Amino acid sequence: MNDKELITAAFNAMEKAYAPYSGYKVGAALLCKNGKVFTGCNIENASYTPTVCAERTAFFKAVSEGEREFEKIAVVGGKDGCVTDTFMPCGVCRQVMTEFCETDFAVLVAKSTDEYRCFTLEQLLPHGFSNKYMKD
Ligand code: THU
Repeated sequence: MNDKELITAAFNAMEKAYAPYSGYKVGAALLCKNGKVFTGCNIENASYTPTVCAERTAFFKAVSEGEREFEKIAVVGGKDGCVTDTFMPCGVCRQVMTEFCETDFAVLVAKSTDEYRCFTLEQLLPHGFSNKYMKD
């Protein structure tokens, strides 16, 4: 799957967002190294803190289906689903990416299928805490 297709999948996932409190709809599409794609949207909650981001929805769907190797993720979002700018992954999502991905994991943040930026996970979370510190 190419970048444009992955970004399109993220836009489609954004349509499913459940965001009655913030109004910000976010979609993500996660490409596994085996070519499979898992999508996710943000899912908010009246109690606020149980809210989960689109990126983590995609990761948890994939991991719970047995996937462990990931190549890239596309992320789009905006107020009422209107994407006017890039939407950067939050710190918690960056930490979840760090659990499962190499430092060269690619994060595409898109305004459209033509206008997007690509960051490595290393750029988004330098010196992050990872499982390498959990080994004796
Ligand atoms: N959100 C995401 O889905 N991904 C992020 O990386 C940042 C924030 C969601 C959470 C919440 O539903 C809304 O955007 C506003 O913060």
